[in-house]
Amino acid sequence: MEYKRIPVNYRPIETSDGSLTLFSESFQEACHSSAGARAETLLHYIQGCQVVERSGAHSPFDVLEVGLGVGTGLLTTLEKFPPEHSLRYLSLELDRELLVWFQEEHPELGLTWTDNVLQGRSGNAQIDILCGDARETLPAFLKSLPAPSARTFHAIYQDAFSPRRNPSLWTVEWFNLLREASAPSVILSTYSASTSVRKSLVAAGWGVLRGEPFGAKRASTRAVLGQGTDPEIQQQLDRAPVLPRFDLQLDPPSPTIRE
Ligand SMILES: C[S@@+](CC[C@H](N)C(=O)[O-])C[C@H]1O[C@@H](n2cnc3c(N)ncnc32)[C@H](O)[C@@H]1O
Repeated sequence: MEYKRIPVNYRPIETSDGSLTLFSESFQEACHSSAGARAETLLHYIQGCQVVERSGAHSPFDVLEVGLGVGTGLLTTLEKFPPEHSLRYLSLELDRELLVWFQEEHPELGLTWTDNVLQGRSGNAQIDILCGDARETLPAFLKSLPAPSARTFHAIYQDAFSPRRNPSLWTVEWFNLLREASAPSVILSTYSASTSVRKSLVAAGWGVLRGEPFGAKRASTRAVLGQGTDPEIQQQLDRAPVLPRFDLQLDPPSPTIRE
């Protein structure tokens, strides 16, 4: 799609499938693989979380996206989600400037601000995007709900920048929070196949499965509850000296986005 403008602090990159991604100057990383922003999203998140196949099993079907970024995850989900079923899409995004840009570029979603939440409706979908550090906004949002189990996620798109650039969203504590906020049938999917990420997921009580390769990456990761880790992956994890990541090791802190 053509964008009218590009947000400050980002560079546009056309990926191999013709879809656009943004390179963040603050994080020094692109939001998607250069092999295809749309193709990667379809593979890792829509197919990886079996969104279409499972859309009718829960009403509404609750998606959590870690990092709205360019909005490819949201737009692709809205495009693929069956119209006869109901979707609640919660996304977390640190950078307000990116959200203002996305709101302007997508007037068809009718997004409006209520405090620090960008909200809208599109057909059968309720969209809420929490602006701020996910480590603070997600727990506060869950606490504000009428009952602790008022929202449990069926699909989690774990799509922060890489663990090296965005360490606070890959720790055992973060994955513990995601587990506590999940339905038993949840599928968490991420492009990362890093050993430390997989060890952190296991330490937080997730069963880790192998995900599809994409672009330069030979594998990705899916994680589920109530099912053990794939024995082959477990063997690899047992052999690897790398440790899980904990909040205590967070240093330096994530880069601050300029207002
Ligand atoms: C890889 S991009 C997400 C791409 C997006 N899912 C898409 O489909 O376009 C990662 C996003 O996470 C956001 N982010 C980084 N740290 C964050 C934090 N602590 N809380 C919330 N969002 C964060 C970044 O600003 C960036 O937009």
